[in-house]
Amino acid sequence: MTPSVTIPPAPHGIQGEIRLPGDKSISHRAVLFAALATGESCIRGCSLGEDNLRTIRAVQSLGVGIAQHDTTVIVKSRGRDAFHPPSDVDASIDCGNSGTTMRLLSGILAGCSFTSRLDGDASLRRRPMGRVIEPLRLMGATIESEGEQHCAPLRITGQSGPLTGMTYTSAVASAQVKSAILLAGLHATGRTTVIEPARSRDHTERLLPAFGGRLAVQGRTVSVEGGTPLHAQDVNVPGDLSSAAFFIAAALLLPHSELRIRQIGLNPTRTGIVDIFRAMGAQIEIHNARDVCGEPVGDLVVRSSPLRGVTVDGELIVRAIDELPMLAVVMAFAQGRSVIRGAEELRVKESDRIHALAVALAALGVTVEERRDGLVIAGQGRVRGGTVHSQGDHRIAMALSVAGLGSDEGVIVREPECIAISFPGYYRLVQEVTGVRLETG
Ligand code: S3P
Repeated sequence: MTPSVTIPPAPHGIQGEIRLPGDKSISHRAVLFAALATGESCIRGCSLGEDNLRTIRAVQSLGVGIAQHDTTVIVKSRGRDAFHPPSDVDASIDCGNSGTTMRLLSGILAGCSFTSRLDGDASLRRRPMGRVIEPLRLMGATIESEGEQHCAPLRITGQSGPLTGMTYTSAVASAQVKSAILLAGLHATGRTTVIEPARSRDHTERLLPAFGGRLAVQGRTVSVEGGTPLHAQDVNVPGDLSSAAFFIAAALLLPHSELRIRQIGLNPTRTGIVDIFRAMGAQIEIHNARDVCGEPVGDLVVRSSPLRGVTVDGELIVRAIDELPMLAVVMAFAQGRSVIRGAEELRVKESDRIHALAVALAALGVTVEERRDGLVIAGQGRVRGGTVHSQGDHRIAMALSVAGLGSDEGVIVREPECIAISFPGYYRLVQEVTGVRLETG
């Protein structure tokens, strides 16, 4: 039988104060940049979700020293020139479910002198890799897709000299593509420039200079100078706003809620969800706004709020891309019609999130229309409940469990264990803050 978790309604809401695991995107970058640097870097508050563990194991397999105490990860490296191919028979690195691991590593390995192979699970093998293969080839890398339609596995053939710097105009606003090119650019001659159609998350631009990278940012254009050695750096990773989104949503939907979430990353390229929830009528306050390691951080205070429907498109989609599953569920609980459009990227995430959400919301009794680039949701202020499937996608599983907490009859989520990809302690924390008992079967 498919594993499942039953989430009953949580009539007493959420009160109290929580902290959340470190930001997944920043944790990936901190580990990768530390691996490229010479010396010992200490990363505090690192996410230890399965995706981040893939990145940690990948750099370990390249010969980088890793020590871990709780959420502190110490990375000891002699830089990229000291990397050696993984000892695995075919030099394969298993990126699991993690697109960030695969795309950023391909930028790093493109300039290495040995041949390597990147592979992943069934979901990652379906995701588009042409978006990194094409620019890396233009820089002189030899990178082949062994899958269908430019998908993983990827084989990257060792390079005898540096790559060639270039200017690349990307068709997608993707921080993974941008970062892969910039990381390849570190090992290229001259300057490498990426121009994006819209500004994607800028954690690479904020963190790489701390390690000694020479970057210049102007609007949607980012450049890196090749040949600059990186040196070790300590990093404090803020809490993950993408993980916080599930608790923000639960506090908004459940009556009698007042939740404080401490030390959350509030990078403006990531805070679209806060802006959208506020436009729906949400009471969300930001306290103690400050900067930590070049990233804006603050505490959030969220109270139960009546919500109204909203239309979301344009740059807000990019700034809230990973939170759209949670948003779609919240839209079902709002009063009135909501629209998500211009979000076709959702179809190539860990699952086809547009389809997964349309099917799941319909199964919960919500009137929903699936469109090529988004969803139209008729919010009724309440959701009945029912049985749904996560499609093995962590963010779908967590969003649907919040639906259960706010629903009339509860929700059964099939294949719920995928939450460990980004947030292994998620169900435990849900039980703690709501006081409800989740049943696994
Ligand atoms: C990420 C970038 C985004 C996001 C993903 C993490 C990153 O993907 O959806 O969860 O850390 O760079 P794209 O770059 O493909 O948009």
